[in-house]
This record gives sequence, structure tokens and C-alpha cells, in this order.
Amino acid sequence: MAKWLGLAILFSQLLGYAFCVPSCKGSRYHLLKKVNRKGPYIGLITVYPTEENAFFSTGAFKPDPNDPFLDFSGRRFRVGKVLDKRVIYVKCGVGLINAAATTQQMLDLFRISGIVHFGIAGNINNSMSIGDVTIPKEFVNTGIWDWLNPNGTVDTADIAGLDVKNYNSPKAGDNLLGHIGFNFEQLYSNSGEPNTAQTLVWAQVNQDWLHVASKLEGIELQQCVNSSLCLQGKPKLVVGLKGSTSDIFVDNAAYRDFLFNTFKVSSTDMESSAVVMTSLSNGFPVIVIRGLSDIAGKQEGESAIGTFGSLAALNTANSVIQLLKELPAQRNRHYI
Ligand SMILES: *[C@@H]1O[C@H](CO)[C@@H](O)[C@H](O)[C@H]1NC(C)=O
Ligand SMILES: *[C@@H]1O[C@H](CO)[C@@H](O)[C@H](O)[C@H]1NC(C)=O
Ligand SMILES: *[C@@H]1O[C@H](CO)[C@@H](O)[C@H](O)[C@H]1NC(C)=O
Repeated sequence: MAKWLGLAILFSQLLGYAFCVPSCKGSRYHLLKKVNRKGPYIGLITVYPTEENAFFSTGAFKPDPNDPFLDFSGRRFRVGKVLDKRVIYVKCGVGLINAAATTQQMLDLFRISGIVHFGIAGNINNSMSIGDVTIPKEFVNTGIWDWLNPNGTVDTADIAGLDVKNYNSPKAGDNLLGHIGFNFEQLYSNSGEPNTAQTLVWAQVNQDWLHVASKLEGIELQQCVNSSLCLQGKPKLVVGLKGSTSDIFVDNAAYRDFLFNTFKVSSTDMESSAVVMTSLSNGFPVIVIRGLSDIAGKQEGESAIGTFGSLAALNTANSVIQLLKELPAQRNRHYI
């Protein structure tokens, strides 16, 4: 009996190491194992301090009293609960690299049942407004460019093209910035042929979770930053639109209209497609909630992100909490 127990412990340790070398040596490894025994968790990933502050300001996140956080690669993974759901929360930092690296780390280290990614975004759709919340069905990475000379030809395999000369002002003419062809992602995944990438244009969120999210349409969202600053209309939550991601902060009206007309996307951000693609690659459910903080360059003067960013982040955080409430109860299956 003792022999079998010894073997079982050895085996579980080997298994543990196999899952998380080299990130979890020593005491952190034991802490991680202890935390994972209390799982599974829903992974919550947001991007930057405005969004984090809004999330914590709701008071919904209750840290685990014994093991409140673990730090990996300079990021703080916080262990806790939102309502009845166990969660691991982390702030990843701006851009696709931060988003993908953090998502992979979350999935490799922790016992996760799925990812809820959230933050603010630029509004690309004229039928949407600042303060609205979008829970898109799919994301395209609009930052994979073939940037060609003026006499170059966009590859016919590219999914879209932009001729810079069409945007000359006051009138169209040649422009040395030439043509831009929009290329697609290469997806490696558990469910695909090993060592073979599939072409990916639209990274889709989980259908079941999107269905759950559709219950959120019609929820009450906040309209005012404070007593003297309010949005003109009542904000709304919309499920099932399309979103775009790239390592570009879009604050340009012409490019905004190009994105809407070409890709039919309603929002632009700098992380979502990376979180969704990494989750798909690993075979985990994922959903994205983004609050619209500005109109991506269509405005006169300054971007509204400075004035309405915190309101958009708060509407986003409250939508995340509502979604967590609606998601099915977590089962704690046996775990070594
Ligand atoms: C146009 O193409 C020719 C060769 O096809 C090349 O020599 C030339 O440098 C190109 N011009 C520009 C502006 O890229
Ligand atoms: C733009 O937003 C409106 C309002 O949510 C929506 O009905 C419409 O389908 C969106 N347009 C596109 C192209 O997604
Ligand atoms: C409301 O918020 C705006 C933008 O942050 C700020 O300029 C203004 O002073 C605030 N007003 C009050 C009454 O707090």
C-alpha cells in the first residue's frame, strides 16, 4: 500500500513538473499545485490599469484568503472568486505579444476551464456609441501586412488590400507608401494536424458561452462618469458583432472607415484576437467583452478615451460579472 502511495506521489510530481518546467520550481511549484487543487478556474485577462481599476472598484473580486496571488514573468496572477465562480485574474499589458504570452501561461500553469478576456476598445461602427459594450462572435487580426511598393501587386491570397494613393488629400494620386495587403494568421492547434498550420482569418469565440452572453442584452449600463459628465444616450450591450485587433492604436477616421467597409468590424483593440487564437490553439473556451471608449479618430479633436475610458471600463467590468453569474456552475473533479 505504502509502495503504491509512494509511486502515486512520485507520478503526480513528475506530471506536475512536466506541465510547468521551467516556470515553477521550488516553493512556487508547491503553491501552484495547492492552488490548482482548488480549481478549476475561469481565467480572467484584462490589459491595462484603467480596466483593472474599474474591475476592482466593483468589489466583486474576492481574493483567496490563503493564496491570494502568484507572480510569473513579472505578471501577478490573482486567485479568488467572483460570486460563486473561482477565477484567476491577470493584467497582461498592451499588445498582441503580451496577450498571447499571458494566455498561454495562464493555460499552461493553472487548471483553467476557459478564458474571459475584457477591456476597452475603439468604436468603428456608426450605429454603436461610446459607453456601449460589445461581445463579438469573432476577431480578425488586421495587423498582418504585406507592405508593397507603388508598382507592387497585392498577393491574390491576401484577404484585403489598401491602396495608399486613394487616400491622398486634396485628391487621389500616386503615393510612395504604395499598397498594403492584409494577410491571414497561421493557427496551430490541438485538434489540427500536428506541425501543420491552418489558415485563420476569423478567430471565433466559444458558441455556448456566446449563447449565454446573449442573455446580457438589455442589462442596465452606466451613462455618467460623474454628476457633470454623461453620455448623450443610454448605453447598450450588443452580442455577435465582429471585432478587429492589431498592434495599432487606431485614431484615424479614414483608416477606421476602411476597416468597417472592408472587414465589417465594429471595434478595434490590441489584444483580443491573440487571446482568442491562443485559446483556440490550446482547445479552451474563450469569450471577449469590450467596452467602447472612443470613436477611433472619427471625432473632432482629442480621442474620448481620456474622458470616457473609465466609464467604458466600468461598463465592461459589470458585464464580465454578469456573464460570470450566468455561466454554468463549476464542478471540482478529482485532481492530483
Ligand atoms: C517598380 O518596379 C521596378 C521593377 O519592376 C523597380 O526597378 C522599381 O524600383 C520599382 N519602383 C518603385 C518606386 O518601387
Ligand atoms: C453595427 O452596429 C449595429 C448596432 O449594434 C448592428 O445592428 C450592425 O449589424 C453593426 N454592423 C455591422 C456591419 O456589424
Ligand atoms: C467629471 O469628470 C470629468 C472628466 O474626468 C472632469 O473633468 C470633471 O472635473 C468631473 N466633474 C466632477 C463634478 O467631478
